[in-house]
Amino acid sequence: MNKITIVGAGRVGESTAQFIAAKNLSREIVLLDIHKGAAQGAALDIQEVSPLFCYDTRLIGGVDHRLMADSEIIIITAGLPRKPGMSRSDVLASNIPIMDSVIDGAMQYAPDAILLFVTNPVDVITYFAFNKTGWPRNRIFGQAGVLDSSRMASFIAMETGFSSMDIDTMVLGGHGDTMVPMLRYCTISGIPVEHFIEKDKLDAIVERTRVGGAEILGLRQISSAYDAPAASVAEMVDAIAHNRHRILPTVCLLDGEYSQHDIAIGVPAVLGQSGMESIIELPMNADEQAMFNHSAELVRKDLAMLKTM
Ligand code: 2OP
Repeated sequence: MNKITIVGAGRVGESTAQFIAAKNLSREIVLLDIHKGAAQGAALDIQEVSPLFCYDTRLIGGVDHRLMADSEIIIITAGLPRKPGMSRSDVLASNIPIMDSVIDGAMQYAPDAILLFVTNPVDVITYFAFNKTGWPRNRIFGQAGVLDSSRMASFIAMETGFSSMDIDTMVLGGHGDTMVPMLRYCTISGIPVEHFIEKDKLDAIVERTRVGGAEILGLRQISSAYDAPAASVAEMVDAIAHNRHRILPTVCLLDGEYSQHDIAIGVPAVLGQSGMESIIELPMNADEQAMFNHSAELVRKDLAMLKTM
């Protein structure tokens, strides 16, 4: 790609820039932050890695929304992170005004960009952006399921001792404690995961995945996860930049898929150069559909809160 902007030069934004640069996915990366020094410092620091990691990406940091001009992808990580004990929904009220201003900037300076949201609560923020911009849904989506699936695959690798490269997982639904790990579709080299792990241990892995973000926050106390979230964003950007048509769990606007309308939530989607190219509708059994519907209900509670703002 020629230009990617990352809004928010906190830990997630900075690590995202580092991963995207290291993968040589864009000629230019702009880091924007309300703290000018933070954005400039991060950009310069990552620039100084370039001779060591062999990339030619130019990094620029600043505060001015005009720096977004001509971006092909804008990744939004800005906003308040949750503190220990808070849910992702608890930061909604603080983050909406921040998103409002960032989206205004994108609409003014990069009206053809793909917007990729990371800021929490990501399902609600993605929905908010879709309504505000009126842009087609292929250009407005969010990152959650790639991270949740990567966490689950890591836990399966830790449990079995097998290479995480051979482990395929799929976590759908809202990015919260009711997310829906699709065990039926989890495999190790194509072999159903149940062949290797007993039910009670699998149940524990599912539970640990659901609270994976809180586990890291509880350990670090002063920061949420940022390495795995940033690597997950870079994975989605890689699929877009290389037009790979990868199937990745993505926070998408649903229009009847999975029997849901007027909501953004995690579903398997095809990512390529035009962004979210299509949604894959997996057959769900009654239990899976019930879990998905429950997760959607909780996202809708936050959407109802959004309507009062
Ligand atoms: C996480 O799951 C912060 O939502 C992010 O770690």
